[in-house]
Amino acid sequence: MGDPRALSREAALRLGPPQWKHACHALLYAPCPERLFGKIPLRFAVLMQMRFDGRLGFPGGFVDLRDTSLEEGLNRELREELGPGAASLHIAELDYMSSHASENPQRVVAHFYAKQLCLDELRTIEEGATRAKDHGLEVMGLVRVPLYTMRDGVGGLPAFLSNTFIGNARDQLVHALETFQLVPREQLQKAVSTAQKRL
Ligand code: GTP
Ligand code: MN
Ligand code: MN
Ligand code: MN
Ligand code: MN
Ligand code: MN
Repeated sequence: MGDPRALSREAALRLGPPQWKHACHALLYAPCPERLFGKIPLRFAVLMQMRFDGRLGFPGGFVDLRDTSLEEGLNRELREELGPGAASLHIAELDYMSSHASENPQRVVAHFYAKQLCLDELRTIEEGATRAKDHGLEVMGLVRVPLYTMRDGVGGLPAFLSNTFIGNARDQLVHALETFQLVPREQLQKAVSTAQKRL
């Protein structure tokens, strides 16, 4: 397949149609003070989705000719995939994180964004998600990412990372967990290497 190559936003935007399509996806997260079983700190609620193709990915999609900017395309896709709870959600250029170009199976530049919400906002999105236009079609459901590791060393984040992800979504997730310190660095590195061995 070939690894997607990282590009600056500027360089990415020079890759134009008709050869290249552009897609934008977003990681939404919120601080979450609750504990699992009254014990394990959840730390943050991080949203991903189970896609129609059985792979995990982030909400978002292709930017097309109706969209006047990457962010406008992203916000349109978020409304389609997340539904009414995302009506007041606006991802901006400030929330931009990275761009990656891949050639297989088609030429796509994938732009990635991340935004912190408060837990109430994130819950509103979750509650509205089954009323989204694409629910049950392109999107089979939202999931929260477990950020902890269970005592067996696999349950939680390592097992989650052992799933199949679309494109470079797994790397996008790990990079955001690291950048925003959503998981302690050492625990994250361990989870990534445990998942690697299980694949
Ligand atoms: P359609 O309306 O069917 O076109 O779907 P969409 O516009 O929602 O597009 P979708 O989000 O399925 O995918 C757009 C492109 O980005 C495709 O090439 C996907 O393989 C890729 N993709 C989808 N989700 C992610 C993701 O979370 N991360 C990355 N890096 N790529 C993704
Ligand atoms: Mn139970
Ligand atoms: Mn999509
Ligand atoms: Mn879509
Ligand atoms: Mn679309
Ligand atoms: Mn669609």
